[in-house]
Amino acid sequence: MLEIIQSFTESKNSALVWLIKNKFDLETYSFLNLDEKILSKIEKIFSEQKNTTLKIFLWRDDFEEVIFLFYLDVKKDLHLFLWENIEKLPENITFEYSKDNILLDSIILWKYEYNEFKSEKKELNLQIVTQELSKKSLLERLSTIKNITDARDIVNKPSCDKTPDKYVWYIKSLKFKNTRVKVLDYEEIKREWLGLLEAVWKASNYKPRMVILEKIMDKKLPTIWLVWKWITFDTGWLNIKVEDYMYWMKEDMAGSASLLFVAKELDEKDLNCNVIIALPLAENSISWDAYRPGDILKSYSGKTVEVTNTDAEGRLILADWVSYLSKNYTLESITIIATLTGACMVALGYNYAWIMWDNRQFIDSLLENETFESYWELPLNDFYVEKTKWKISDFINYTSWVMAGSSMWWAFLRNFCLNNEKFTHIDIAWVAFAKEKYWLYNPWATGFGVDSLSKLILNYGKTR
Ligand code: BES
Ligand code: ZN
Ligand code: ZN
Repeated sequence: MLEIIQSFTESKNSALVWLIKNKFDLETYSFLNLDEKILSKIEKIFSEQKNTTLKIFLWRDDFEEVIFLFYLDVKKDLHLFLWENIEKLPENITFEYSKDNILLDSIILWKYEYNEFKSEKKELNLQIVTQELSKKSLLERLSTIKNITDARDIVNKPSCDKTPDKYVWYIKSLKFKNTRVKVLDYEEIKREWLGLLEAVWKASNYKPRMVILEKIMDKKLPTIWLVWKWITFDTGWLNIKVEDYMYWMKEDMAGSASLLFVAKELDEKDLNCNVIIALPLAENSISWDAYRPGDILKSYSGKTVEVTNTDAEGRLILADWVSYLSKNYTLESITIIATLTGACMVALGYNYAWIMWDNRQFIDSLLENETFESYWELPLNDFYVEKTKWKISDFINYTSWVMAGSSMWWAFLRNFCLNNEKFTHIDIAWVAFAKEKYWLYNPWATGFGVDSLSKLILNYGKTR
């Protein structure tokens, strides 16, 4: 339960939480009438200049406990300090909303739990104190947080509950107000002949879909294209995944879940650009009809690809999809976000998403973004594009001897941007799914991308 109140004295919760960043903050809790001993303890903490917590038990009717989080050292990462302390907070708390959102974000995103299948559901009981003036910005932030946690919920769902047909139904249930939802069913996909996508889904009982979400503000404005992969479960096909790696693969649609909620986040906002979000949805499984290593496939662009590894399926469906968009629309710039490579996870763990550019403007805004989502840029080289060319087909989807796994992914896709569009690639293979508690990530799904990408688009509009 979440309640917004105007003053601490209205609070019914037993614990009060304060984040104290400077001495002036002390004045705001004078109503607690803390005794001299406690005040001198607080003074001592200030004089020691260290980040710490202080719990005080008041033994009064209104509050039992006051927890002060002292954040004094500007050099130390505030995020890490909170990360260490938020877990220890009780479930029933009252705290104040500040414009930097920091406590609000930390408490809700950190304490998030996926409990759809739990018989006993733990519920947070939060009261947030805010002045009338800040209420609008608080409500906006709460709505962004809801989009992040909704993205987490859908990534956390078991694969059987998010097959392409079920997911289309789910997208429609989100009831977009200003965003058009276009769905291409299997018959249309077949008519268009997206050969790589066909190979990837055909061992499954569930037919693929294509969904396009369009928010057009004004045809004269530039259009940003965001594309993702929605693989409901990645077995690796005949290059089958082993043990642990297979276990995580219900998350192979995390990029698309994030973009779906970027769309939701932007739906009712004023933008200075148009946004089109395009996703191919495909379920995969293994059967006698699965594609094999060594199969040569014809893509939508007409170019052929020898499948050297059936587990490199994301780049196959996206290659067709990118060419389809490139041929049928005028694209200024295209951005792909998806759970693409183990190489990304080896290089950056779950601390950073991996970005590669053609589009400098996007990369700079993402590197500098102020949300909890961090990016790291890795290099590109036309050498990689050369290495995707092959003797017996136009391209191969994978080669082990180059090693730069994520760069090879980008290089492969580059071949399918038919009009040499600017192309940014974001690999969220590991940040999408935290394996342990880390900063605002909470096992499992993180909702990575919702916050930073929606801000990127909102600001893109403003700076033009
Ligand atoms: N979906 C995986 C990438 C992935 C790995 C996502 C770990 C999340 C966590 C992708 O389809 C894949 O299997 N990539 C392979 C490709 C390789 C065999 C060419 C990889 O990177 O291991
Ligand atoms: Zn995959
Ligand atoms: Zn794979």
